[in-house]
Amino acid sequence: MKLDLPPNSHTSRRFIGAVQYFSISQIFNATNLHSSGRETKCPNMFVPVCAVSELQEGELYRFDIRDRPLLVVMYDGSVFATDSICTHQEADLSLGMFSRGIITCPLHRAMFRVDDGEVVSGPDGSSPDSIRRLGFYRAKIENGQVYVDLPQNA
Ligand code: FES
Repeated sequence: MKLDLPPNSHTSRRFIGAVQYFSISQIFNATNLHSSGRETKCPNMFVPVCAVSELQEGELYRFDIRDRPLLVVMYDGSVFATDSICTHQEADLSLGMFSRGIITCPLHRAMFRVDDGEVVSGPDGSSPDSIRRLGFYRAKIENGQVYVDLPQNA
């Protein structure tokens, strides 16, 4: 989550490891910026998706969270989350294949990187520029639970 705070803001940021935590007042300020029309950013929030024990390494899982179809993959011991709907013609990517960090669409075989949603290959081997990348979301494991960082309005 990236927040652009006013220069006189009296809030603080703390970094613990690679995770940036924000105080409640920062989230409140970000929401105010959004509602004032000055900015159109929405704060994100980690939401619980599933238990880690539900995931098998290298398998594709779809979870519908707040009407958003998410693709969740455990790969090399880490968990990743992208949109589960192909940006070409909306096939469900959870019905596709996964190998070596690459998600392959079941319909026209477009390929996407699981670790950032970038297009590796377009439909039927066409240029990666022919379709949009997948939405990509930060994911984490905490106390045996998988959490995904989604926009609050998702
Ligand atoms: S719907 Fe995914 S490549 Fe066509």
